[in-house]
Amino acid sequence: MKAILLAGGKGTRLRPLTIHTPKPIVPIFGRPFLHYQIDLVRKLPEIDEVILSLNYQPRRIEEIFGHGDGLGVRISYVVEPSPLGTGGAIKYAGGALDQTVVVFNGDVMTHVDLADVLRLHRERGAKATIVLTPVENPSAYGLVETDPDGTVRRFLEKPKPEEITCNTINAGIYILEPDTFDRIPKETAWSIERSFFPSLVERGETFVAYVYGGYWIDIGAPDKYVQVHRDIMDGRFAAPPFEGAPPNFAMVSAEARIEDGAAVEGPCFIDEGTVVKAGARIAPYSVVGRQCQIEEDARIERSIVWANTRIGRDALVRQSILGRQCYVGRNSVLDRGVVLGDKSVVTDYSRM
Ligand code: GDD
Ligand code: MG
Repeated sequence: MKAILLAGGKGTRLRPLTIHTPKPIVPIFGRPFLHYQIDLVRKLPEIDEVILSLNYQPRRIEEIFGHGDGLGVRISYVVEPSPLGTGGAIKYAGGALDQTVVVFNGDVMTHVDLADVLRLHRERGAKATIVLTPVENPSAYGLVETDPDGTVRRFLEKPKPEEITCNTINAGIYILEPDTFDRIPKETAWSIERSFFPSLVERGETFVAYVYGGYWIDIGAPDKYVQVHRDIMDGRFAAPPFEGAPPNFAMVSAEARIEDGAAVEGPCFIDEGTVVKAGARIAPYSVVGRQCQIEEDARIERSIVWANTRIGRDALVRQSILGRQCYVGRNSVLDRGVVLGDKSVVTDYSRM
């Protein structure tokens, strides 16, 4: 059985972080995001191959995962000549398949039990099974109404406030029968959410919902990208590198150097090669990537800093995300919601 991971989007909501790093490989504690999805997919022993459906910066992704050596599952790649949308991408990657296929949006993190979803799919003899999750505000997602027996009754992508009738949304995980793919036009941009799913409902096909109440998040916007780090540090989502760690753990690489007089307060993460100088303070919920330099008396709070970035002395970085190889000048203040792209330079004494 094959899994298709849809990982070709441009990651616009995560710009500028995604200008040089496609969303599927943005680092979560320094680990490219798709590793977390591969961990989940691997739990279903029937899956012998993961097909990564790519479009935006595919080489960068292929370089990381190769053929899947050491990952416990074979990885292959399908690169669209131009973005085909979620439906077009599934057709392009899986059009020749003749077996049940598992499809994932390449930006969702969860521990849903895929074997249980597959069991329901088979039990109901479904053409499509979709995982749903309850959220407070469905407007950024695909709203899915179901009948009491769990059949999908309506699918509405990005509903307007007045169109919201329930709290269950598409979690971006599907089990599909490829004989339904004939209705997806070939090599044409086409949306699975706006066209394919509504067409299944219209035709009265067996389209079943599996509601999952456990942890689920789409990491595709800055606030969610930050939240997933927090949830892993807090143990709300058990995942590497904090899985099994004690509460409020300060995870400092053995190859990082914390100078005397620097303060490191958990939960936090400091990767290898990073130097935290005397008087600097790494406050709770901070994530500092590889080879960073945090100068004297600088302070990082509730922020994510990617590799090779330098924070000048007396600077404050709070509730912000900084890309790779940035330089934050001394005495600068970056406060609340600042997102810096790779190689940004912030002049000394700046306020943002
Ligand atoms: N190969 C390929 N080609 N992949 C694509 C393309 C494309 O043209 N467009 C988007 N993708 C991938 C993205 O990389 C992402 O992993 C996934 O498809 C979903 O796209 P997003 O852009 O992240 O969509 P969304 O988050 O607004 O909405 C989708 O996900 C929600 C759950 O997180 C929809 O499926 C909603 O219905 C759903 O609720
Ligand atoms: Mg998304």
